[in-house]
Amino acid sequence: MSEIELIIDLHIDSRRQGPGSEKDTLNALNLIGLSLDPEFKLADIGCGSGGQTLTLAQNLNGHITAVDLFPQFLDELNEKSKKLGLEGKIKTLNASMDNLPFKPGEFDAIWSEGSIYIMGFEKGIQYWKEFIKEGGHLALSEITWTTNSRPQEINDFWTREYPEIDTSANKIKILESNGFSLVGYFTLSEDSWIENYYKPLESQFGHFLKRNENTDLAKKVVQDYRSEIELYMKYKEYYSYGFYIAKKTE
Ligand SMILES: C[S@@+](CC[C@H](N)C(=O)[O-])C[C@H]1O[C@@H](n2cnc3c(N)ncnc32)[C@H](O)[C@@H]1O
Repeated sequence: MSEIELIIDLHIDSRRQGPGSEKDTLNALNLIGLSLDPEFKLADIGCGSGGQTLTLAQNLNGHITAVDLFPQFLDELNEKSKKLGLEGKIKTLNASMDNLPFKPGEFDAIWSEGSIYIMGFEKGIQYWKEFIKEGGHLALSEITWTTNSRPQEINDFWTREYPEIDTSANKIKILESNGFSLVGYFTLSEDSWIENYYKPLESQFGHFLKRNENTDLAKKVVQDYRSEIELYMKYKEYYSYGFYIAKKTE
């Protein structure tokens, strides 16, 4: 297996593939204004196995298009949505977030938890904007510095991993300069990172290494996540995921 296949394999049995929680998804949805309109259309981009998609479907009457590049995650999501009787509301789409088969103004809202970094925050906003109708919404969670300065070690780590990491003030400026106005912002709690993402992931390390026969690459994948978790525990007061909820105004 390649490194990316191993990363998928490590995450496939987890409820989420990144930090977040049902409470965070609902907070963001409430900021948009819970729509019970059966015609409401939302695209959930980089949905993974659907941690947030299922919550959205349980709280909206409309249609959700759940997009991911990896069909393994979409298969999991389809299975879960069938079990919960939500298959009529969720349609999965195997596509890349930077090449979407959508029509201009097709969606009331575009949602993306922990995934826009793959395209880059500004590029993602600029590309996805055309698919949102006038007055529609964008809801994004994105890694964000929570203080204006920070220790060198964590600054270097995240700047190397994701050069677009920034403070919420600068992220909000990017939204505003691209024709969005901020409706709300909040940061994810430590529980959204530790209880909902890192602990379930750590509980998979043993099974993952065993089924992948302890190869050097599998051990490297686990080691990389261990280092990321250690850094989070050491420096969690300096960064989190920010949840940005914005309205398309131009
Ligand atoms: C950090 S995970 C977040 C998953 C989910 N939203 C969550 O919070 O649990 C990022 C997701 O983006 C997906 N992904 C990676 N590259 C992608 C691309 N080019 N287009 C669409 N999805 C992509 C991954 O498969 C993964 O499911």
